[in-house]
Formats: sequence, C-alpha cells, structure tokens
Amino acid sequence: MRHFLNLSDAGGDAIAAMLADAIDRKSARAGWPKGRPDADAPLAGHVLGMIFGKSSTRTRVSFDMAIRQLGGTSIVIDAGQMQLGRGETVADTARVLSRYVDAIMIRTDDHAKVEEMAAHASVPVINGLTDLSHPCQIMADMLTLVEHGHSLPGLEVAWLGDGNNVLNSIVEAAGLMKFNVRIGCPQGYDSDPAFIDAARRAGATVTVHRDAREAAAGANVLITDTWVSMGQNHAHNKLAAMAPYQVDEALLALAAPDAHFLHCLPAHRGEEVTDAVIDGPRSLIWDEAENRLHAQKSVLLWAFGKLG
Ligand code: CP
Ligand code: NVA
Repeated sequence: MRHFLNLSDAGGDAIAAMLADAIDRKSARAGWPKGRPDADAPLAGHVLGMIFGKSSTRTRVSFDMAIRQLGGTSIVIDAGQMQLGRGETVADTARVLSRYVDAIMIRTDDHAKVEEMAAHASVPVINGLTDLSHPCQIMADMLTLVEHGHSLPGLEVAWLGDGNNVLNSIVEAAGLMKFNVRIGCPQGYDSDPAFIDAARRAGATVTVHRDAREAAAGANVLITDTWVSMGQNHAHNKLAAMAPYQVDEALLALAAPDAHFLHCLPAHRGEEVTDAVIDGPRSLIWDEAENRLHAQKSVLLWAFGKLG
C-alpha cells in the first residue's frame, strides 16, 4: 500500500519521477478547459474521498480538480460532520471508507491521526496537511522551482519565520533531493529536530540563523509562511518575535540576484511578507498555487502504483 504521509514515504527517485510526470501532464493539456480529463484518463472510475478537519482553499479545490483531470471523481467531507466528530475512531473510519472509495486524502491536526488512518485503511492515504508536515505543498514548490529553471541539487533555500509544518516538509525534501536549507527563525519557534537530523544524515546542509539577513544572504529562494498556523493562538509575543523575519525588499536584496520568492498561501500581507515582495517580479506564488494541482495528480498516480 502506497501511503503519502511524508515525502520520505516516496523517496527521492519517486519524487523525481513525479515532478517529471507533472511537467509532462501540465504541458500536454495546456490551453484545455480545466474540467476536461487528460487524454489517457489514468484513474477513470476511481473515487478520492477527502476529509477536512481544518479550513482549505487550495488543497480542497486542487485535489478535486486533480482527480477529475485523471478521469476520476471525489467526495469531500467536513470532518466535523462525520461521526468522527462524535467519537467514532479514526481506525473504524478508515476501515469503512476503504470499502467505499479508492483513496483517502485527509487534512487534520495531530499527525498521529493520519498515521492511524493509514494503518487501518486498505486504500492509499495522502496527507493534505497536519500540524507536523505538508508534503503535497512541497511537491508543488519543487515543481515550481524546477519549472523556473532551478536545479534542486545544491540549491540554497532560505526559510524565514515560524518553524512550522511547511518548513518540516521543506527540510525533509532537502535531504531527499539534495538541496540546502538556511532557517531564519527566532529561538523557541524552531522546526522539528527529527526532520533536521534526517536531512543532515542524508547529506543536506541545514543551518539555523537568528539573524534573518544571515539566512537570506546569497540564497536562491526565499520562502515564508504565516506566523500563526491553523489551530495556534494569535499570541502577541509570537508576533513580536517574528517581526524581524518579515520578507521585505531589503531582505530580498540580500539574496542571489535571480532569487525567487515562494509562499504556500494564504498570506498575511504586511506580516510575514510585504506587498512589494509577494506581488513583485521575483514572486512565483500564483504558479506555485497552480502547481498544487499538477503535482498532486502525480502524487495520486504514484499512490495508485501507476508511477515511480
Ligand atoms: N497552501 C495550502 O495548503 O492552502 P489551503 O490551506 O488553502 O489548502
Ligand atoms: N502553516 C500553515 C499552512 C497553511 C497551508 C498552517 O498550518 O496553517
């Protein structure tokens, strides 16, 4: 069973195959109506069940369109409206849904819940974001960087801000795809040390900087995300600690001259990034958002054993 709970479930070779497939599929359907299935409709007749325990715009719509373009259909369920919300276990939910649908995508809080879902499902389970990680987002980020001329091995990626779920998956990707990460974040808001240790063991250079300028200097890519993730409190002391890590034009000027800016969105303009950067010429955010669709089609094909 191919579950996609973290990027290491697939590994570097399969990720490379997925990125290549995404580029091919994207170009093969250029200019087509978005609802028209790909010519080979490789997942015709398949149903993706999606469970959302948190809000979503991109993940929800891009996965729905992804399965449609692959020839399949979807069922989208709000976790709060399921019996899950009244105490039915994740394990029993996994067993039941496996009898109805061909794959499950779940967005939830505690990562242990997606692991429990995968342990008891007899169909592939895909992580659509947990408090720990966001692997589908980083597939789209890597696709966007490759599309815009970057080669992943040796790339210098700078992260500015909160050490959150998105950063954990970036660090994991660094170990698998051989790029380096400079983390600029305040003390007390660091990312998960297990991801950093694993990436370093795999040969990536991951450094932690308390000075944002040091993290950004010469970097090929600057990435940030909201300072307050879903489920977290808007604590004033956290916002104050994050303020020196805002990505503004002065910070971008320290990066490589052809550096790009990424943000998974939703953005909090004026907090983690200024309008001038996010709307500026180095920003790739709209391609990045679009690429959630293309990258996830390849993730689905991998999960169904049709790729990698
Ligand atoms: N980037 C991302 O996962 O967006 P949504 O929360 O809108 O799905
Ligand atoms: N770190 C953010 C990502 C949203 C896509 C969150 O967890 O809310």
